[in-house]
Amino acid sequence: MTWRGGAGFYLIPFVETALPMQLHLSSWPEIETYLARSKAILIPIGSTEQHGPNGLLGTDALCAEIIGKRAGDEAGFLVGPTFNVGQAQHHMGFPGTITLRPATMIAAMTDWAQSLSHHGFERIYWLNGHGGNVATINAAFAEIYHSVSFGGEGGNHPKLRCLLRNWWELSGVMDTCRQLFPVGEGSHATPSEVSVTYFAYPEAQKSVAMTPKIAPNGPIYDADDYRRRFPDGRIGSDPSQANVAAGEKIVRMAVKALIREFQHFAAA
Ligand code: NI
Repeated sequence: MTWRGGAGFYLIPFVETALPMQLHLSSWPEIETYLARSKAILIPIGSTEQHGPNGLLGTDALCAEIIGKRAGDEAGFLVGPTFNVGQAQHHMGFPGTITLRPATMIAAMTDWAQSLSHHGFERIYWLNGHGGNVATINAAFAEIYHSVSFGGEGGNHPKLRCLLRNWWELSGVMDTCRQLFPVGEGSHATPSEVSVTYFAYPEAQKSVAMTPKIAPNGPIYDADDYRRRFPDGRIGSDPSQANVAAGEKIVRMAVKALIREFQHFAAA
């Protein structure tokens, strides 16, 4: 925290805070130094897709980024840029949604992983914010591992390892969400995920009345069918319950569990 007077003098002494542990806010010598002590990095991965009438289009990417960044800052591990567009084909009936074809996403993730591996990273923890990404992320891991094998690496070379974790699966997070929102959590545009974004970006909060109060449930097929079944984008949820205090509780729980799991993965 720094308070600066009008004439440019500091009114209180500068308080040293830890450097932000983000790759894109680092210089290359800082990354070189980091690699001398750790070969592990976290990549937030999500989606840019509609999240109902009061949820931000970036929700799935933002949740992973918000939790990942706080954990990295607190525990001193590196967080890479957010892979913020994913598998959102079934949300294409709503303006603002951006999607990748599975083959594009697999190719891009492979290039990210190979770039990091080229510099010496051996553990990539992908913190995911979008359930629809899971199948494609696992396919990308298969492609990444094939590339390592076909690249002739083996023998005594350390292997590149990837881990996929959905943030809501982190220990204690689901219980916290259920306690905060016993009714109307639903499965898309949930009050929990919207709360996480409102906690980090309180200025982006939107007050919207939900009709019906709790959205319908049902299967997901094509984009047009999705919009017919779920006209405002929500599935089973009442995200008008979303609030900053709930978001803070969820983030705290997730950060604690993430630090534990990341450190274990980095050391394995
Ligand atoms: Ni979501």
